[in-house]
Amino acid sequence: MINQEMKKAVLDNFEKVFGKNDEVKAYFAPGRVNLIGEHTDYNGGHVFPCALTIGTYGAAAKRNDRKLRFYSVNQDRLGVIESSLDDLKPSDKAGWTNYPKGVVWAFEKRGMKLESGFDMVIYGNIPNGSGLSSSASLEVLTGFILRDIFGFEVSNQDLALIGQYSENNYNGCNCGIMDQFAVAMGKEDNAIFLDTADLSFEYAPISLEGAKIVIANTNKKHKLTDSQYNARRSMCEEALAVLQRSLDIKTLGDLSIEEFEANKNLLTDPDMQRKAKHAVYENQRTIEAVKDLKAGNIEHFGELMKQSHVSLRDDYDVTGIELDTLAQEAWKIPGVIGSRMTGGGFGGCTVSIVRDEAIEEFKKTVGENYRKKIGYDATFYTVEIGGGPEVI
Ligand code: GLA
Repeated sequence: MINQEMKKAVLDNFEKVFGKNDEVKAYFAPGRVNLIGEHTDYNGGHVFPCALTIGTYGAAAKRNDRKLRFYSVNQDRLGVIESSLDDLKPSDKAGWTNYPKGVVWAFEKRGMKLESGFDMVIYGNIPNGSGLSSSASLEVLTGFILRDIFGFEVSNQDLALIGQYSENNYNGCNCGIMDQFAVAMGKEDNAIFLDTADLSFEYAPISLEGAKIVIANTNKKHKLTDSQYNARRSMCEEALAVLQRSLDIKTLGDLSIEEFEANKNLLTDPDMQRKAKHAVYENQRTIEAVKDLKAGNIEHFGELMKQSHVSLRDDYDVTGIELDTLAQEAWKIPGVIGSRMTGGGFGGCTVSIVRDEAIEEFKKTVGENYRKKIGYDATFYTVEIGGGPEVI
């Protein structure tokens, strides 16, 4: 569902900022929301995200020299940010363009050298810092544009891996593969049941009869590199190393609940034990949730969403009062099938499945109670599941 106004705006801005160019084309890459399976993707577990119809629009064209010029309609006050293929180091001055530059750098690392620079304008409708993957969307958009204008042979799955590589090694966030994979491999009306241990995946149709996916934004900004995301990941790696002294496992995702319970005392640090517990239980919950969905048992899917939030709150410790308030208020509303935080946490959004007739009441009551407790407004969006990146 391409937003024609956004498409027009991104093309008009290209012409205004960089001049008329017959070669320019317009592109789109989606954002994503994760339905269940949080903080499992760097633990060899399963995730269940879907691409959204909101995302990042882009317009781009090759240049004849080695310059890279970027312009964001969302951050127009920054003007054109310029650099060059001969200057691909991350820098503070490059601001948001560290994301597209990181992707160019990662392409070159893979031996895909650009023959020239390019001009690029972006315009997104994913709220920034909302945990709906505005950065993965920009990374995959950039990779998709490079493939299109320079003719590189690279699959969508590789675009996801390149995006993740650039985020890990250029932009300093040790994220897993979920976000870039969901963006690059999105399919309309389907969620992606992905095993992050080997990247095998399956599309699962989401037909929520009489219900919709509603996202609630805490409007508390978060930035993964600033947050404790990397610290959580390191702690899981330490837990795995301890368990591997006694168990033949490759990832925490290899453990069943019974195996974890029988061996958890090997983790003598209680905090580390709780973090590992989340990784193991959340993985099993995700597998169970997808079975529920296939069997049409949406009520139990919703119950597992709630358990997921509780585990992220009490064991993994990545929620905070804003996300907890949104989820806990949602659980009280009749017609809310399930509700939980989505993405990295510490701010950002919750995802809820809400019956059509309860949506207004949900927004009103959760919104009022959130404002009373937190002091500012949450924002609500009813979203649709969209496809992957495309030329538009
Ligand atoms: C962020 C990361 C993902 C994933 C989630 C938590 O969105 O980018 O790789 O780890 O957090 O599930």
